[in-house]
Amino acid sequence: MSKTVSGFSKFTREEKVNWLANNYFTNVNEGVATLNQYLNHNKKLQQLHDEFIENTITNFYVPYAIAPNFIINGKTYAIPMAIEESSVVAAASLVSKYWSTRGGFKTKVISTTKVGQVHFMYEKNFEELYTYFKEIKTQLIEATDSITNNMRKRGGGITDIELRNKTSELKNYYQLHVTFETADSMGANFINSCLEAIANAFKNKDIKIVMSILSNYVPDCLVRAEVSCKVEDFFTENSEYYAQKFVEAVQIANIEPYRAVTHNKGIMNGIDAVVLATGNDFRAVAAGAHAYASRSGKYKSLTNAKIENGIFHFWIEIPLSLGTVGGLTKLHPLAKLSLEILQNPSAKELMQIIAVAGLTQNFAALKALTTTGIQQGHMKMHLMNILNQLEANLHEKEIIIKELKGKTVTHNAVAEALHKLRTHN
Ligand code: HMG
Repeated sequence: MSKTVSGFSKFTREEKVNWLANNYFTNVNEGVATLNQYLNHNKKLQQLHDEFIENTITNFYVPYAIAPNFIINGKTYAIPMAIEESSVVAAASLVSKYWSTRGGFKTKVISTTKVGQVHFMYEKNFEELYTYFKEIKTQLIEATDSITNNMRKRGGGITDIELRNKTSELKNYYQLHVTFETADSMGANFINSCLEAIANAFKNKDIKIVMSILSNYVPDCLVRAEVSCKVEDFFTENSEYYAQKFVEAVQIANIEPYRAVTHNKGIMNGIDAVVLATGNDFRAVAAGAHAYASRSGKYKSLTNAKIENGIFHFWIEIPLSLGTVGGLTKLHPLAKLSLEILQNPSAKELMQIIAVAGLTQNFAALKALTTTGIQQGHMKMHLMNILNQLEANLHEKEIIIKELKGKTVTHNAVAEALHKLRTHN
């Protein structure tokens, strides 16, 4: 049987599943049962999911959790997180509690500018192009009037259009570099529609438009979150030693890209989990964050730390392009609920909450790495996954959790304990 197909998109769901099962499943009944198990019994909701993307055959789920006790600029939040990795939510909860007794998190939105570009080729003289651009600039903005009308009422819109000469890097290549304010929306569709209207108004027989698209690199859509405390309050014992070690761990991530990537991955554990839970675009956020980490030409830490006049300071500055309206934010029932749990924040407030989630994860990881090592806490949380992999029943789980309390958990140690338990009973 051929494993390729034409007209798949026109098949009903049942036809899609049958075709897939017959061609790709090793156990047809089991595979089909798994797909059916995760369909939503609420038909209206399932239809909504089916309309998010194309060719849907079921739903793929990740756990949804709450990390409570975040105090951000004096306001208390419980933060929803959608993530599959153990210990991330426990770490967030541990750290929110820790900083709640040390003044909480302080945050600030530095800027909210989004970017889109019309990329084009032009073979003639630059002076002529520049004159043409200056003449037509107002018309380019007017060409978007019907699209920007509502956004302007909300205080957003196009803030500028710049002609950029990139011919020193690529022959004949120029850009219209357009900046936007998009209020409470992430603005991707808005920006792309504006760019296409601008390109249409701009093109002439000498200008070849290559493409018009927003940029997910948003270094001027920046938020800062920080914590600080007296060094003596850092830990109960050896505070100065551990605070210094913590700062050194951040310094290492600032000069060593191998470490920086893992360091930032830990930050993205927190960022992505909240971005996903609020129905935002985690691929866009991740791409923008990693590009920002490389802005000096070297990949570096997204966080920084220092000790100054006996005070420990730890902060993150990260570009976050987010929405609290539009996209899936109000369509996905759990995204909508997440925003409600977060007390219906504006996009600016959400930027601050998510920056805190990133800072928190990094604090948890570095605190563990510079004290006990990561495995003790991580494996303590991962224990349930190992027990499930080994198909332990409820009774066995209870005994083994008790037995391994306070010990370092490894896959082998769990397997051995389970084997012993099973052979002795
Ligand atoms: P602990 O001190 O053993 O926890 O920490 P505890 O049992 O004493 O409980 C203290 C508090 O922790 C609790 O307070 C909770 O807030 C939280 P309570 O609720 O009792 O008032 N907590 C939990 N919350 C929910 N469910 C739980 C739970 N257990 C504790 N089951 C902990 C244990 C794992 C939190 C700690 O060891 C830790 O933070 N470790 C770091 C974990 C981490 O960073 N995980 C991220 C994944 S690892 C990774 O991918 C990134 C990395 O490579 C990045 C990098 O290298 O930088 C590490």
